[in-house]
Amino acid sequence: MIFTVAIDGPAAAGKGTLSRAVADRFGLAHLDTGLLYRAVGARGGDPVAAARDLTPQDLLRDDLRTLEAGQAASRAAAIPEVRAALVDFQRRFARAEGGAVLDGRDIGTVICPEAEVKLYVTASPEVRAHRRWLEVGGDEARVLAEVLERDARDMGRADAPLKPAPDAVLIDTSALTVDAALAAALSVVAARLQDGSDRSESP
Ligand code: C5P
Repeated sequence: MIFTVAIDGPAAAGKGTLSRAVADRFGLAHLDTGLLYRAVGARGGDPVAAARDLTPQDLLRDDLRTLEAGQAASRAAAIPEVRAALVDFQRRFARAEGGAVLDGRDIGTVICPEAEVKLYVTASPEVRAHRRWLEVGGDEARVLAEVLERDARDMGRADAPLKPAPDAVLIDTSALTVDAALAAALSVVAARLQDGSDRSESP
């Protein structure tokens, strides 16, 4: 079975939680594509060379989740040659036998426009900053400023800007519990899987 679930949205909207849960529930592979850009930013030096030489070990660093790593990732992600170097790996992962969930910024628009399911997961900047602040601590106003700066860079860049695919299902998690957001995501994926199996069974 080739079946791709593309989950896009801004920082700290809840994509990671939803992606892991969808992958677990349906037995799909999962790729957090933000980690690729974080690993490129964290290598330092020339980001294009880092993207071309990226190895699985680079994704295991324990400093990839910090605010600074997020900023470095988003700066590297605005460079077209960095994005180009990471496309093939992501496309192969998305269309590999067995099915996959990928979360990021451009999965439904650029990496896999043919994805069977596209979700755009978002929430207000204040809600996202608060959630991120609960994880990282420090000054909440600084976390909000960081979220807004990253949104502006990710949405404003020329190459693969963050935006919903025209056929994406929007999930605004601002006022949803994790369980409610998850129920919404699971029902979209389940309906599409059912749809596919009905079609393959019909004569
Ligand atoms: O999702 P995460 O916050 O880990 O992503 C870090 C940064 O990597 C984002 O702010 C964005 O600039 C970049 N990114 C991207 N395309 C993706 C995933 C992440 O440009 N598919």
